[in-house]
Amino acid sequence: MRTFLFSIVLLFFISSVISTVPAHETPTTPATLPAKRTKGGHGRRRRNAAKFFGFVRVNRTMYLHSETELAKEFMHAHNWVRKEYKLPALEWSETLANFAKKYLQERYEDCKLVHSSANYGENMFWGKKLHWTPSDAVYYWYKEKDSFDFNTLKCAPPPKLCEHFTQIVWRDSSHVGCALQHCKNVGTGMLIACEYDPPGNFVNENPLVHTT
Ligand SMILES: *[C@@H]1O[C@H](CO)[C@@H](O)[C@H](O)[C@H]1NC(C)=O
Repeated sequence: MRTFLFSIVLLFFISSVISTVPAHETPTTPATLPAKRTKGGHGRRRRNAAKFFGFVRVNRTMYLHSETELAKEFMHAHNWVRKEYKLPALEWSETLANFAKKYLQERYEDCKLVHSSANYGENMFWGKKLHWTPSDAVYYWYKEKDSFDFNTLKCAPPPKLCEHFTQIVWRDSSHVGCALQHCKNVGTGMLIACEYDPPGNFVNENPLVHTT
């Protein structure tokens, strides 16, 4: 019997001033956090994730204007990571992307980092500021690799997280679809969701190894 780790903390939460790896789980709603500011809109320490992945945007905010560009950027980042682990590339799925988009629309008012009840794998990201990009989300998920031990298949103790990372490198996931949304009230931030099919994160299985 394979146990599907869906409802556990696949939550991700970062404060906009911190550009190094996270943060903590989310015991409160993001909206209740004090607003912090970075000079000039971007912290000097915020890593350029698109550059890290070698992704070149048409212009700085193109992913907000074109679904094709949004998909391209999510795909590029995911498949950069998959390649690192010699895994087959994920394919973009409009069905999954539409699911993510519809689900985020349900969160438009409250902007809460809560999972949907889909039968997909699901990675979510919340940011206080509105400048977070597809590459940023995937970058922070990818960095969870530092907390994952491939020998024991265990994650470092909380508040460390690994499930976003293990979902990205789940060998048997073949399709991904994502959405990005600025929530209704600017102060409550933005959300990003990616759906994966078939889902990953089955307990005690090696993400990189095909399961029959
Ligand atoms: C980027 O391109 C889009 C679509 O052409 C345009 O709407 C937007 O204003 C541009 N943004 C910048 C920062 O140039």
